[in-house]
Amino acid sequence: MAHLVTLIPGDGIGPEVSEATRRVLDATGIGLEWVVEEAGERAVAREGTPLPPRVLESIRRTRVALKGPITTPVGTGFRSVNVALRHELDLFAAVRPSRSLPGVPTRYPGVDLVVIRENTEDLYAGIEFERGAPETQELRHRLMEFGHEIREDAGVTVKPISVTGARRIVRFAFAFARAHGRTSITLGHKANIMLFSDGLFLRIFREEAEGNADVGSQEMQIDHLSMRLTRSPEDFDLLLLPNLYGDILSDLCAGLVGGLGLAPGANLGWEYAVFEPVHGSAPDIAGTGRANPLAMILSGAMLLRHLGEAAAARSVEEAVDRVLSEGIVRTPDLGGTASTNEVAAAVASALHREDGQE
Ligand code: NAI
Ligand code: MG
Repeated sequence: MAHLVTLIPGDGIGPEVSEATRRVLDATGIGLEWVVEEAGERAVAREGTPLPPRVLESIRRTRVALKGPITTPVGTGFRSVNVALRHELDLFAAVRPSRSLPGVPTRYPGVDLVVIRENTEDLYAGIEFERGAPETQELRHRLMEFGHEIREDAGVTVKPISVTGARRIVRFAFAFARAHGRTSITLGHKANIMLFSDGLFLRIFREEAEGNADVGSQEMQIDHLSMRLTRSPEDFDLLLLPNLYGDILSDLCAGLVGGLGLAPGANLGWEYAVFEPVHGSAPDIAGTGRANPLAMILSGAMLLRHLGEAAAARSVEEAVDRVLSEGIVRTPDLGGTASTNEVAAAVASALHREDGQE
């Protein structure tokens, strides 16, 4: 039976890299049926909203989507489609693998790690008190009653971390490790300073680690972890991080292995999954054929694995490796002159090439 997948081409370079990805995934021959749903700028032009209800309905039906980048319009009053999707579908885990790729110049060979980032809580929960606002003054006075003093000219961002939120991301991380052959989880935290937020996250991690002893677990303060990552990233397997640290370290890890044109990602919940590259819509190169489709193609490989098509996922990743290690067909961001379509064609044809035939 064919797998139904919602395809959101996106804005800017989105349609180009989406088409390239669709071509490669179709070439695996596993039978994918694409349900194309426009969101973003084209949806605004046609329907007056960047995220029409039909898009969410489609994902609720297919349960899985491949998504191109979507421009976040500034000053139009529209909420970010990316934030809205995450919220509406409760995609509480961001998963971002970083893997050294053959033939891509980097100081760190042998990196193969995954960042799992909590997507809904922490300092990114959006609980903001502006400096000088009446509610901020009220907050100051309440805090004084509890013996906490903050300056009158302070702005405040609140960091909530709940047992519910922590437990589900921790359980997700252990389940992910088991499903993907990862043997060791490192939790990054600053629990010695933030006792009741990071400290709670750490406590839940320890509790869950007891019942998941088949997967190794260690905890590390986030500053020390950052140093260790830049010294010897090959020591790490899976990093589990609260929202803010996860945002920062997932970019750091992408940088370890060669940049935005190569960084795939997924937003996952218990029910739905949306796969997308880490990069944005790159308006500066949209329409020029210069976009590197590999980040989205590798996001497509993650999607295949999620669908239970592990062999096809591996063959896409191996085809990408082969094209990169040959070093002939590359987009300008990797120092080459090939177009988006030429890279897609090379990966699709490498899918069906036996080793030794090159
Ligand atoms: P961007 O990632 O689109 O571009 C940053 C730089 O990297 C640009 O110079 C671009 O040309 C280059 N680049 C990005 N992807 C590339 C690729 N596949 N191949 C070659 N070069 C690539 O970030 P920017 O410019 O900050 O954002 C543009 C728009 O995308 C904004 O509206 C932003 O809100 C949106 N965005 C959407 C995301 C999503 O849909 N998940 C994620 C990040 C940004
Ligand atoms: Mg970020």
